[in-house]
Amino acid sequence: MNLPARVHEATNFLIQSGVHRPDAAIILGSGLDALLLQVQVLQQIPYSAIPHFPQATVSFHKGELVWATVGGLNILIMHGRFHYYEGYSLQEVSFPVRIMHALGARWLIISNAAGGIRRDLRKGDLVLIEDHINLLPDNPLRGPHDPSYGERFPDMSRPYDAHFRNLLKNVAAREGIELKSGIYAAVMGPSLETRAEYRYLRTIGADMVGMSTVPEVIVANQVKLPCTAISVITDECDPDHLMPVSVEEILATAQQADQQLTRLMIASLHQWAELTS
Ligand code: HPA
Repeated sequence: MNLPARVHEATNFLIQSGVHRPDAAIILGSGLDALLLQVQVLQQIPYSAIPHFPQATVSFHKGELVWATVGGLNILIMHGRFHYYEGYSLQEVSFPVRIMHALGARWLIISNAAGGIRRDLRKGDLVLIEDHINLLPDNPLRGPHDPSYGERFPDMSRPYDAHFRNLLKNVAAREGIELKSGIYAAVMGPSLETRAEYRYLRTIGADMVGMSTVPEVIVANQVKLPCTAISVITDECDPDHLMPVSVEEILATAQQADQQLTRLMIASLHQWAELTS
């Protein structure tokens, strides 16, 4: 079955399950699920129930879509995302974004855990992604093209929506939440980087590094779904003073910073609800 037909079937299944026109769709990064405690959950739909949806593999990821409300907005939350390093194709990794778009989502918010390369980025910092560098060895749009996907060669001059970036910045300032800005490089993983690789990433202009987000953002741009993304800095990747780090430490730091991230997301959703009402 071709991609448009699979998107169609998965979307219809979700509509029949009660999901309709999310005001916002949210992809939660690793260890960043505190948001789920701050929303009114209407439905939890396991990925395994959704036709053609990839199945979650990593043990710390739960694989389910959460349909919820906050501040009068309908939101669709992906609890558990797919990574290239798990063996999925980038077409699979980004499949949920096509469904969010087909459901009529109006804003995509992505979070991720990232290593901080720029010197001022510290563990626990929240960083709004301004731009990215795709170092994954693939692109989710590679392969035969169907006009129903969107453009063959989508423009990527402004991949992160300016209006929603400003909304997040203004809400952060009002709430007293420090929100830095930076450029995110996506790498394949799953090994972390060597000191020489961090030096290289710094040289090419990356402020932080992680293993996700970029495929979803590329597809969001193709389908013209406005998107924003926020990194939580989980480890400091200074090539001259690099300390060994484990995935357990990365997840523990993500959990600590998750409270602030959740506060920012909730306040931003309320702000947007006010603007749209
Ligand atoms: N690289 C280094 N540190 C990280 C990463 C990464 O991809 N993700 C979270 N911390």
